Amino acid sequence: MWLINSPVGRKFVMGITGAALVLFLLFHSMMNVVVLFSEEAYNAVCAFLGANWYAVVATMGLTALVGIHFLYAVILTFQNRRARGKDKYAVTTRQEGVEWSSKNMFILGLVICCFLVLHLYQFWAKMQFVELTHLGDVEKAADGAYWINFYFRQPLYAITYIVLLAGLWFHLTHGIWSAMQSFGLSNKTWLPRWKSISNIVSTIIIALFMAVPIVYLIKSLIG
Ligand code: HEM
Repeated sequence: MWLINSPVGRKFVMGITGAALVLFLLFHSMMNVVVLFSEEAYNAVCAFLGANWYAVVATMGLTALVGIHFLYAVILTFQNRRARGKDKYAVTTRQEGVEWSSKNMFILGLVICCFLVLHLYQFWAKMQFVELTHLGDVEKAADGAYWINFYFRQPLYAITYIVLLAGLWFHLTHGIWSAMQSFGLSNKTWLPRWKSISNIVSTIIIALFMAVPIVYLIKSLIG
């Protein structure tokens, strides 16, 4: 099948799953900033996205997207390495115009996976998972504001999130315009435009995400 067998098809799958994940990140980051205005409103959003059938379906969809994106990243990376291996005596100096993040997408992806393991353990496992299984503190399972206060008032966690989110910024800035190329929507005129759009969208998403640990860290420091 084209989507599995051809390199172009595989890049297309990376692009589609990546674009869907960007939409999730946009939604998730906008949902999170609600906590900065009202913790009650944030908890209402958390309750809405808790142990309901639609939230569980969304969680399963997200898991599939992350799984496919990761699997194809591994396949594409091996494929590129093999292709490069054939001309390993070619000049290997830094190519002009190849950004740092484009050469490090796989490593950045692994860093994001590590972030996800930490993040899901800290939030999802204490919230939706507990609501579904009743294994844990059921009273705090829909209290997202409690967990945000608990973690981000600790400088170690707040700073860890800020650093890892910076890694996600690099991954997104390259990933968004690269997806547009995979969809055949890029050319000489549009490539610089997609790059600017990627920078703007990534910066909005990461600024919204970073605002939460930064504000709670400041709150903890000023008492
Ligand atoms: C400061 C930033 C963030 C905060 C405050 C935050 C908060 C949360 C909370 C409270 C939940 C649990 C929701 C529930 O189970 O009801 C959650 C789940 C989740 N978060 Fe985050 N998050 C942040 C950043 C991120 C980032 C950067 C990613 C991805 C790279 C991410 C991916 C996820 C995923 C995949 C879930 C599980 C969603 C589901 O169960 O459907 N989060 N987050």
